[in-house]
Amino acid sequence: MSEFRVKAISKLHAEFSVPGDKSMSHRAAILGGLSNGPCVISNFLPSEDCINTLNAMKALGARHEVLEELKDYGPTKLRLHGQSMKLSPPAEPIDCGNSGTGMRLLAGLLAGQSFTSELFGDASLSSRPMGRITIPLGQMGANLETLGKNPGCAPLRIHGATLKPITYDMPVASAQVKSAVLLAGLFTEGKTTVIQPAETRDHTERMLASFQVSTRTEGNVISVHGGQIPESCDFEVPGDISSAAFWLVAAAALPGSRLLIKNVGLNPTRTAILKVLSRMGAHMIDIVHNNHGEPIGNIEIHGAELTGTTILPEEVPNLIDEIPVIAVAAALAKGRTVIRNARELRVKETDRITTVVDNLRAMGADITEFDDGMEIQGGLPLHGADLDSYGDHRIAMAFAIAGLFAAGETIIRNTACVNTSYPGFSHHLSAIRHERSDPADFILPTLSKE
Ligand code: S3P
Repeated sequence: MSEFRVKAISKLHAEFSVPGDKSMSHRAAILGGLSNGPCVISNFLPSEDCINTLNAMKALGARHEVLEELKDYGPTKLRLHGQSMKLSPPAEPIDCGNSGTGMRLLAGLLAGQSFTSELFGDASLSSRPMGRITIPLGQMGANLETLGKNPGCAPLRIHGATLKPITYDMPVASAQVKSAVLLAGLFTEGKTTVIQPAETRDHTERMLASFQVSTRTEGNVISVHGGQIPESCDFEVPGDISSAAFWLVAAAALPGSRLLIKNVGLNPTRTAILKVLSRMGAHMIDIVHNNHGEPIGNIEIHGAELTGTTILPEEVPNLIDEIPVIAVAAALAKGRTVIRNARELRVKETDRITTVVDNLRAMGADITEFDDGMEIQGGLPLHGADLDSYGDHRIAMAFAIAGLFAAGETIIRNTACVNTSYPGFSHHLSAIRHERSDPADFILPTLSKE
């Protein structure tokens, strides 16, 4: 089984780019497949999660050709052949692997088909709540059975139907639920509206606009009219700010460091991590250089002695995936960091409150667990430990970063899961660990789309 072995570093001077955004790669595969013609998707994330969604679309009739690929991982540039919203029944159940985004978004479009289909995933995905999508999609007229051992969990058997539009007041702030309902709304005759309790990432709305499908957003109310066929278009996926976050924390917490991350997505519904690290004392400049559809730019960060902070309730959906590595930053900072209103962490790839608390505690941090978050009294020296990722990619990567600041060796076991979101993470980690200062060292040949 693969593992990371990490020791402390004393400097970090690097420039590189991270692989394509996971949320956008899923959506590009789905909307490209629903569109009315060929679409070239560049800088697609060649991760297991996104490849599963690509294969799901293929199983539904939307085939693709690989134009470029990253050896040992998968396609980074592809041409998708859109089916003008007409999907065909899959020959067998569709494997969504580890991906909640893949399963929930696909369920949205399968709900509006005239056939029955099944979606399944790995043990982690089969333990995550699906009631949050079966309820609204059921209100629209589809029948979704949850066949899992755990009540309300995958596998899903989806009996598609002629859907009716609804107005759905979402009980949780979830971009996946919003997107599932909006995608189902495309298959209705009428206006589907989602009301979100707090702002969530808006990639679905922005990408629909790139495909000439109009949506309307007024505050936290988002509507779409059914019957619009996405116009095929080409889409370049920016680097994933959630992947960049690991290195941003490493650089932020190391005084004297300088890191430049190039061509990363700077969508304001994803950049709270930058605000938090600035508040903690890191020096940062982020410059958007392309604002067509999805803002994309560079982030330059200089490390400092960090101080603790309080994460604001409205920031939580914006940085939910970054909380494991923010907790690591908090352990390295002086003073107290409070993370509350984040109960959603308990239903991610692992219960990320427990997995973060257990691993940080094993490294010597002073951390208190709450039902909806954690409080960290930072500044205690971290020591190396023998840790498990519990099969969660973001836990594996967050604790690789913690290991860069710990005395002795940190072992993170069970790290193959990083391929669900960050192919090439171990190469970047090894370049950073070996203190290579030549920026070229940090660029994996086929990940460096300058
Ligand atoms: C995602 C939304 C978030 C996030 C996940 C990706 C998306 O989940 O945690 O990694 O692409 O829509 P929720 O919608 O459950 O908050």
